[in-house]
Amino acid sequence: MSRIAYVNGRYLRHDDAQVHVEDRGYQFSDGVYEVAAVCRGRVIDEEPHLDRLECSLAELRMDLPLPRSALRLVTREVLRRNRVRDGMVYLQVTRGAAARDHPFPEEAIGAVVLTARPVRWPEAAADDGGVAVVSMPDGRWGRCDVKSVSLLPNVLAKQAAREQGAYEAWFVDAEGRVTEGSSTNAWIVDDAGRVVTRDLESNILGGITRQRVIGLAREAGLEVAERAFTLAEAQAAPEAFLTSTTSFVRGIVSIDGHTVGSGAPGPATVRLRELYLDYCRNGRANR
Ligand code: PDD
Repeated sequence: MSRIAYVNGRYLRHDDAQVHVEDRGYQFSDGVYEVAAVCRGRVIDEEPHLDRLECSLAELRMDLPLPRSALRLVTREVLRRNRVRDGMVYLQVTRGAAARDHPFPEEAIGAVVLTARPVRWPEAAADDGGVAVVSMPDGRWGRCDVKSVSLLPNVLAKQAAREQGAYEAWFVDAEGRVTEGSSTNAWIVDDAGRVVTRDLESNILGGITRQRVIGLAREAGLEVAERAFTLAEAQAAPEAFLTSTTSFVRGIVSIDGHTVGSGAPGPATVRLRELYLDYCRNGRANR
């Protein structure tokens, strides 16, 4: 079965799915995107993803290219045509094609691409042995809250991490405080048992998984603090973990070669992973 992509109103085989050479996403990174997980046929947190897409587009002074109802329908159709019940959806919106010139073109029509692919999500919370992260200076632009396709620093950081045998790169700001990972949000559990993740400012992406995990943690009676933490605090913390749409909740067992906690995902991390997996599987999606 060949994969099918949605491109500007048409469903095309992947091999035939193309965008214009002068698409402003290609030439200027003048576009934004969303990635959502699909579990048992449901798009997890679809509405928050669409809310964030609208916020990102607003920063580019663009409107949603299709009404939400149409985007939901296109998503269902792409999932159906690709027979994806467990997997991910990628949605990208750019300012579209125009003769190359920096200011916004008068007449470009936003370009929309939607793809889906199957992914085998983790079966059990205990599946996670934990991963290593390495730190690097955060040299990104000041508007990391916009989910822009301009991901070069993130790509370079992730590649550097992988070359050092780590799963993720943690960005650190000029004050030595962790902002986030190259494609994940960063968390620790502090000595008082509080679950800590950086507060939302323009220097991190407001992760949909982050928000969901905050809610699940509070429902489970865990105290959550949204505040910055330093790299040193994270290295000395009893637990650390990361979250994202595609990584779910994953324990961190090493930061720049320093073992975190016992060297295995800690109890709060495993509990939150369990709660998030359960949330994805058992029908509370789209709330
Ligand atoms: N990345 N921070 C950054 C820089 C990200 O790119 C992402 C997501 C996150 C986590 O956000 P969410 O929980 O909404 O997935 C944090 C996606 C998965 C990606 O680029 O593939």
